[in-house]
Order: sequence, then C-alpha cells, then structure tokens
Amino acid sequence: MAIIAPSLLSANFLNLQADCDMLNKSEADWYHLDIMDGRFVPNISFGPMLVEFFRKATKKECDVHLMIEEPERYAEQFKNAGANHLSVHIEACNHLHRNIQQIKSLGMKAGVAINPHTPINQLVDIIADIDIVCMMSVNPGFGGQKFITHTLEKIKQLRKLIDEKGLKVLIEIDGGVTIENAPSIIAAGADVLVAGNTVFKSPNPTDTISQLKKI
Ligand code: DX5
Ligand code: ZN
Repeated sequence: MAIIAPSLLSANFLNLQADCDMLNKSEADWYHLDIMDGRFVPNISFGPMLVEFFRKATKKECDVHLMIEEPERYAEQFKNAGANHLSVHIEACNHLHRNIQQIKSLGMKAGVAINPHTPINQLVDIIADIDIVCMMSVNPGFGGQKFITHTLEKIKQLRKLIDEKGLKVLIEIDGGVTIENAPSIIAAGADVLVAGNTVFKSPNPTDTISQLKKI
C-alpha cells in the first residue's frame, strides 16, 4: 500500500479551507507542497507563509518540495512554517551533503529531488544520508503534465540501489500520476505517490484518494 501525497498545487486557491477539510477526512497520508522560485523552474508558486496556513488547516504530514535555487537560504523558514519533510533538488545544490545536514539539524526528514534527465547513479554517495528521493516523472514547474514513461526504469534502478544497501529511503514519484499508471509505478518499486490533477480535478477527490490507496 503506497503513501498518498496529494499536491495542493492543483487545489482551488479560492477555497483552500474546503480542500484542506477534504484532505483531513480522506485516506491521504501526506500533503505535498510545491515551492517554485521562477528561476530554478519557469513558474512561481507560493512561499512559507502559505505553508504555515496549510499547517494550521491540515492534520497530515507536510511534505515540502523546494524547486528553488540556494535552498539553504530558506530551509529554516520552511521548518518554522511547519514542514515535516524538505526536499531539495540535486541540480540546485553545489554542496548537497551540507544541504542535507542542514535539513536534518533543523529536525526535518531530508529529501533529494531529481529531474527526469538526472541519472540514478548521482545518488550513490548521498543515498545513505537521506530519507526520501523525490523522483520527478515530469519536468518540474507545472501540474497536469504527462508522465514520462522512462521513469519506470529509473524507479527499478533506484529500488535496487536502496535494497542492496539495506536502506529504508522512500521513493516518491512526482508528476503525471494517474489511477491508470499507478499500478505500474508501484510495481516498479515506488513507496509514495504524489498526485495533483488526478486528485483535485476529479469529480470526487476523497474517492480518488481511496482508489489510489487501494492499488
Ligand atoms: C510539478 C510538481 C508536482 C505537481 C504534480 O512541478 O512538483 O508536485 O504538483 O502535479 P500532477 O500530479 O498534476 O502532475
Ligand atoms: Zn512536487
């Protein structure tokens, strides 16, 4: 049974309270928050202020995905805003090990996010130090994109790496997850499914979360 993390990027920003209430009553395990700076990715979303509001309105674990440059400048603000997990992009960090130590010393679970073009072997020397790999299955920046099928091969490679080392790192798949492709993503070895459009644009989001949970 996978961990389900609805992405609030696809929520109704004119009525976030309703979507938070829905999450609280649903079988969702986490909620996923996408932070975009308009530099690392070609889009701007929201910052720590909104994370704090979500924290107050939701009971689930808060999974923050930073798509920003120089994430070390903001890690503490996201901790103070209520993040339980903080993922930084490998492509945005010149000193990734230091970023991971910073996140852990602030008391959060540490995640590394990787873009679709980034090979799994770049994780070899950091995998033992982290809690989560957030594997992008679309190019980051926007919700509602199509799942890149090559990701399935990368999930298998990462599963092998984690299992061979006897680690408990979670594999989180982010982008284009649907009811249809979720079975093959889980079969390839994923632990966590992020789902934005699939949940929030469906007629019954609570039921869609239950369907993902049953896979
Ligand atoms: C993309 C974000 C994703 C996005 C997923 O840059 O990191 O978390 O919200 O949305 P869907 O599930 O609609 O692809
Ligand atoms: Zn994300």
